[in-house]
Amino acid sequence: MNVLLIGSGGREHALFWKLSQSTQLGSIRVFPGNGGFAPESIALGIDLKNFETIRSYVKQNKIDLVVVGPEQPLVDGITDALSRDCLVFGPTAFCAQLEGSKDFSKAFMKRHGIPTADAVTFTDSNAAIEYLRTRKLPIVVKADGLAAGKGVTVATSYEDAETAVRDAIDKKIFGTSGQSVLIEDFLEGQEASVFAICDGQRALPMIAAQDHKRVFDNDQGPNTGGMGAYAPVPFMNADVMRQVQTEVLDRVMAGMQKEGHPYRGLLYAGLMVHNGSVRVVEFNCRFGDPETQGLLRLLDEDLLELCKLSASGNLPERQIHFKQEAVICIVLAAEGYPGEVRKNIPIPDLKIIDSLGDIIMFHAGTALTPGGVVSTGGRVLNLTATGRDLLEARKLAYSALERVHVPGLFYRKDIGQKGIP
Ligand code: AMP
Ligand code: GLY
Repeated sequence: MNVLLIGSGGREHALFWKLSQSTQLGSIRVFPGNGGFAPESIALGIDLKNFETIRSYVKQNKIDLVVVGPEQPLVDGITDALSRDCLVFGPTAFCAQLEGSKDFSKAFMKRHGIPTADAVTFTDSNAAIEYLRTRKLPIVVKADGLAAGKGVTVATSYEDAETAVRDAIDKKIFGTSGQSVLIEDFLEGQEASVFAICDGQRALPMIAAQDHKRVFDNDQGPNTGGMGAYAPVPFMNADVMRQVQTEVLDRVMAGMQKEGHPYRGLLYAGLMVHNGSVRVVEFNCRFGDPETQGLLRLLDEDLLELCKLSASGNLPERQIHFKQEAVICIVLAAEGYPGEVRKNIPIPDLKIIDSLGDIIMFHAGTALTPGGVVSTGGRVLNLTATGRDLLEARKLAYSALERVHVPGLFYRKDIGQKGIP
């Protein structure tokens, strides 16, 4: 099969690595890619805002399957645009609203009995503030639309909540994404991410992972796109996973079918687990970043086959196999992230990593220039390490990071700590 992969992050570098191992693979190209990809593997002539350019690429290059990494093209309808020409791994625009609109997502959950926090949507800042004053603290303020992981404020004072409302609705700091805001009750508990590969009828979950959303150690500082992840997650035991299957994944599948839009592709359930009971914090319509970089290292299956069966509506009725090991992924970010960051930080040759053990460094915000690889964004590199257990994987990852110091980048020192008893 000839594959076109869409995206440019660490997630896509990991997807490319895993898809490339398939015995069914003919060729694979990525667009736009990053500095971790060989130049000859980058697709040319594509404009992600113009799906006709992708259709032409697909026809000219006899692409059989398009795997879509990021949410924006899915929300914009890339799957609807391409599905007459080839298989597409990723949901339609209707289904992608589960991520693209928090208001849609909340109403969908209510319609189909999926456990989640109560929330009310507002387009008027005064009405939102009046309402939030009637709720208990902490209180959560969420921009309705896509905001690159930055549209959510967990406020511990009414003043902070009001500022978040005014920033979104009146000051429009998230543009049109913040025209509506949700005021949502706070959920206590521990967070976990469950990714399910879906074919319209069936949702096959991967093992759970835990992301680290705050920028600094001990969950301090602002939210980011994710500073690290690990798997497996001890509290996501068989009982909890059964609940995730029956109360969350199966209900999304049945609900979307009932509404005439079967969900295919990856469904990401961001969950809060408290005393063994599960609630949905958010849905995403694509693989999570950086959880994917870790999970794919443990996936004991042909990912290309799974993507193909998902896109064609033919997943088997069985579990997805994972190695009985642990994995950790640590994000190296540019100083200043998630605010303004310095760009063009030189990334040295990291080959030494290969000799240190079961480690793979995926690239995220990097680009190959005539002068070498440089940083282009906030999250720059993702170091992944596996081990018999999380303690071993963690030790390996952090000892490697002591050897590959990159000036200008920083990382959290406590990734995975919560997963070790
Ligand atoms: P979201 O983009 O909806 O996943 O929110 C980003 C982060 O904000 C989540 O990963 C949680 O850490 C936090 N968060 C969002 N909603 C809630 C909630 N209702 N209760 C507690 N924390 C939340
Ligand atoms: N890891 C968080 C996300 O991908 O949205």
